[in-house]
Amino acid sequence: MTDMTARQGSPGPKTMSGPGAKQRILTGIRPTGALHLGHYVGALENWLKLQDRYECYFLIADYQALGDHFHEIDLIRQSVLDVTLDWLAVGLDPEKSAFVIQSYVPEHAELTMLLSFITPLGMLERNPTLKSELDALPVERRTVGFYGYPMSQVADILLPRAHLVPVGEDQAPHIEMTREVARKFNRMFGEVFPDPQTLIGRVPRLPGTDGQGKMSKSRGNVIMLSDDEKSVNEKVRNMYTDPARVRADIPGKVQGNPVFQYHDAFNKDTAQIEDFKARYRAGKVGDVEVKRALAKALNEFLDPIRERRAHFASHMVQVEEALLDGTNRARKVAAETMTMVRDAMRISSYTKSWK
Ligand code: TRP
Repeated sequence: MTDMTARQGSPGPKTMSGPGAKQRILTGIRPTGALHLGHYVGALENWLKLQDRYECYFLIADYQALGDHFHEIDLIRQSVLDVTLDWLAVGLDPEKSAFVIQSYVPEHAELTMLLSFITPLGMLERNPTLKSELDALPVERRTVGFYGYPMSQVADILLPRAHLVPVGEDQAPHIEMTREVARKFNRMFGEVFPDPQTLIGRVPRLPGTDGQGKMSKSRGNVIMLSDDEKSVNEKVRNMYTDPARVRADIPGKVQGNPVFQYHDAFNKDTAQIEDFKARYRAGKVGDVEVKRALAKALNEFLDPIRERRAHFASHMVQVEEALLDGTNRARKVAAETMTMVRDAMRISSYTKSWK
């Protein structure tokens, strides 16, 4: 894990079950579209490395997707399957790691509700990620559910009693909140939850192909993991570079230039990248040559992903099995945690026969 930084705290000793037991990871994605290269460098690449060393739970957070997509249920439904296909395509292994559909484990909702009673409003009010997302949302879509989604994310992480949460930088405030809630719960009711740590990925953010902030499907500046060779070539050809460089013999900027950021992230031939950078700065290479090499590197990277995706797309039974099997594993852990939580809180156990 040389390219990741573990931040903050240590796992709670009481909840590490037995010597040699693998630590648990929980992370997730909202199913609001198929996945793109930004997801790969910001998340999936790390998950691939983690799945051998940890007991991983990869969550498809469809409840959370309702937050800003409650009016687009069809999109959520389609995306649950698309995301699963993308996961399988990049090589996540459903035998090693549990793929979990959030709404198939309704304990997520129960734990969210219970924890909300010990969580001060201030934690949401102070959350910078939530704040900027709310600002960007039209008033009629600012729902109670959306406002509380970090709370449900806290429950996502605590339900499997996860030790580690690999996420992009923007999610760090939610993990920080998780730690605060877990500590408060443990203090009030007894030790149930570990103190989860954040793992930040290698490339926190890949810019869009238009060089304007992050990749977003609605801006049309993304390269999807499922894009074919032709559309990759086309998107790379139209990619934003250094706008001041109107001719190949003008020295160009490498810093902040998406073509080079993508080379750095995906081209394995580092000598070629260095050569391009030097020539670009000196005005000795054209955009076309640099872009052609990038398209080639991207297609080489995507080829095996496309192949696996095509395989699973024609074997949807395997995709569904992956989801059901993972969800069942998550359900077991969830039931265990909820028993611990109800016992610790001394709630839902007022009569002898109703347990
Ligand atoms: N909020 C995350 C995103 O938008 C998805 C998510 C839901 C998540 N639950 C989680 C991430 C729990 C980490 C842990 O991508």
